[in-house]
Amino acid sequence: MRDWERRLYLTAHPFAYPLLRGLARIGPVVRVPGVGVVVNDAAHARSVLLDGEAFRKDGPGSPGDLWTPILGPSVLLNMEGEAHRALRRKLTELFTPASTTALCARVLDAPLKDLAGRLERGEAVDLVDAMRVMAGAVICEVIGLPDIDEAACREMFERGERIVAMVKLRTRTLNPAQVARAREVLDPIGDIAARAFRRGDETTVMGRMRALGLSEEEAGGAAGAFFLTGTETVATLVPRLVALLHDTGELERVAADPSLLDPAIDEAMRVTTPTPVMLRSVHAETRIGAVTVRPGDRVLIATHNCCRALGPFALDGAPGKAELRRLWFGAGPHFCIGYPLALAEIRAVAETVLRHAPVRVVSRRAARGVLIPTYAELTIQKAA
Ligand code: HEM
Repeated sequence: MRDWERRLYLTAHPFAYPLLRGLARIGPVVRVPGVGVVVNDAAHARSVLLDGEAFRKDGPGSPGDLWTPILGPSVLLNMEGEAHRALRRKLTELFTPASTTALCARVLDAPLKDLAGRLERGEAVDLVDAMRVMAGAVICEVIGLPDIDEAACREMFERGERIVAMVKLRTRTLNPAQVARAREVLDPIGDIAARAFRRGDETTVMGRMRALGLSEEEAGGAAGAFFLTGTETVATLVPRLVALLHDTGELERVAADPSLLDPAIDEAMRVTTPTPVMLRSVHAETRIGAVTVRPGDRVLIATHNCCRALGPFALDGAPGKAELRRLWFGAGPHFCIGYPLALAEIRAVAETVLRHAPVRVVSRRAARGVLIPTYAELTIQKAA
């Protein structure tokens, strides 16, 4: 069986991917001119992520350089210190396992019934397209745009994808034309979010943000951040999970034993790492392993290398994997705030697909020109 994960990465990043994987063989921490200090090992990655004083998400070479011009200065993913802690504290209860499971059950009820019906009838279903619609529906509900039709969900997904695709692995800042294009998409999202915030309905995510004490501006910024970080990551993971289970011959085992689904999702996240790198800007002279870093240096944590060091997808064995402690969602103060929502969404769709096992992959294609490696198409069908 062809290594489709490698193929997805190579199709998305034909030059950067071989370079990134090659760096993992050079050492745990490597300075690469023009790129920054690359961290390839989980222990060093964690030490960087936990040290919010020396390694920050604002300053030169940080994610702030990329996102602040389009999202504003205070949207979690470009904040640090007390202001960041205060906003995270307010948002602790925003996405809980219970609230996100309920949200997905509600929003995905109709699309999942549709997916189940099509699989049941033996139709060939493009899981990539189905997932784009569903991830679009969930994120629209989150930002305050409920009950929109399939075409509008797909359109919202594509708008987000176009912004994310502006970023290449070496991109440090977006140019003015890119910023203008991104703002054309994000400004209306801010307006939608603001209206939902003002309505204050506490059964909605935006309404809850108001109840949790966020200002309208903070809530609008958070909505933009959720839209950019919480759509493609989830949508791309599900087809990759199903393909990995299929290709490793594990699909029917997981379908027969629901207790294996969460470990399978974790393992698929480890192998795929939907966020393959994390960036930090150095604010104080210090060391990462044997490498000295100075203010102004850029640190690129190669999450993908850290996670792939433990080998290819395998449901059993490798107790060391637990030590990664879900590094694919980050670590420390910036640990992914949306992870309960991501898991609820992934579980809901995966359970529906697995209920129709055995499922076979009819055809598939790797996507070009994307930041997050993914399938452009993954068509599945209930095996006769
Ligand atoms: C498979 C799905 C997802 C993956 C793999 C993922 C991964 C990550 C990672 C690695 C980080 C930390 C980045 C860093 O420290 O530099 C992060 C942060 C974040 N994620 Fe996710 N994410 C996912 C889904 C979501 C969803 C569904 C949402 C929200 C709706 C979301 C919202 C955020 C936000 C707002 C942050 C910034 C948090 C902060 O800086 O305090 N993510 N995510």
